[in-house]
Amino acid sequence: QAFFSPIHHTALASPSARHTKITVVGVGNVGMAIAQTILTQDLADVIALIDANPEKLRGEMLDLQHAAAFLPRTTIVSSPDDYSVTRGSDLCIVTAGARQNPGESRLNLLQRNVSLFRKIIPPLAKYSPDAILMIVSNPVDVLTYVAWKLSGFPSNRVIGSGTNLDSSRFRFLLADHIQVNAQDVQAFIVGEHGDSSVALWSSISVGGVPVLNFLEQQRIPYERKMLEDIHKAVVDSAYEVINLKGYTSWAIGYSVSSLARTILRDQRKIHPVTVLAKGFYGIEGGDVFLSLPAQLGRGGVLGVTNICMTDEESRRLRSSARTILEVQSQLNP
Ligand code: NAI
Ligand code: 2OP
Repeated sequence: QAFFSPIHHTALASPSARHTKITVVGVGNVGMAIAQTILTQDLADVIALIDANPEKLRGEMLDLQHAAAFLPRTTIVSSPDDYSVTRGSDLCIVTAGARQNPGESRLNLLQRNVSLFRKIIPPLAKYSPDAILMIVSNPVDVLTYVAWKLSGFPSNRVIGSGTNLDSSRFRFLLADHIQVNAQDVQAFIVGEHGDSSVALWSSISVGGVPVLNFLEQQRIPYERKMLEDIHKAVVDSAYEVINLKGYTSWAIGYSVSSLARTILRDQRKIHPVTVLAKGFYGIEGGDVFLSLPAQLGRGGVLGVTNICMTDEESRRLRSSARTILEVQSQLNP
């Protein structure tokens, strides 16, 4: 006798066969922070995990599965090398690869992680040809370019987590400084996710009030150094956390799951993320990927926002683009 007695309906035996599937490649600190945030936020029906270390992979999968009684129902599958488990994913998130040692820059990881990408991206693209690729491994901007080339996907479906994280750090520091809720602070860091990132001071608003404009109109003095110090604290954030705990994980977990929600639920929100930037804001010189405020939805990148930048901000953005292109030019064909 079956456990349940089936009830036969004349129409619509099952509600919907369409499942949302997310793949996470790399179950290290970052991959697991992303997977567990996606699970708790109920963003996927199926999660596929891939990692080259089979013991760690199975251990992490079991550990997540053992939380089933406390979470929305999600099927979790995994394999160390058989990418067919990722088949039909809507979103593929890549976090595999080397991470920085204390004091090391993100750009220094390039050669090590490009060779991994040659093994990871082609099978992902093969099994999920309609997916959106979300790159997180560092250096994220150059690796998003590499993933675009290796996948053959159109650029609107290849996105890097970029400065969505830096912008959250920026909003946290600003909110802390002026004692408001970080969700009421609209502020963007653009450009490289890393040392040459650019803070867009002129467009910051708090609760709809443009901040620099307000301070100037009210003749409230503010020091340029104070602004530079806050941006420096954003740039130093990851170095500080890596010095203290060895890696960063929770903030990137929430950052990427916020992107997954916007994309998979077609929220059409604007996030600063790594996109193909050629032609925007006077960026020329090659196919460079870096963060710009972009509208995201089920189709991937839907558009890039035309923010008003000061001359200095757009000059710094173009200089960040040149830094990335210089690193990109060292890639072997
Ligand atoms: P980790 O060392 O904890 O995990 C990396 C995982 O990748 C390991 O489990 C390893 O077995 C796996 N791996 C290595 N080669 C693989 C392959 N060929 N296929 C599948 N899996 C493979 O490192 P962690 O802390 O998780 O960082 C991962 C990456 O994310 C680093 O590049 C790091 O710099 C980057 N990162 C990026 C952030 C961003 O904002 N874009 C934020 C934080 C980290
Ligand atoms: C972060 O910013 C290390 O890119 C990593 O947390």
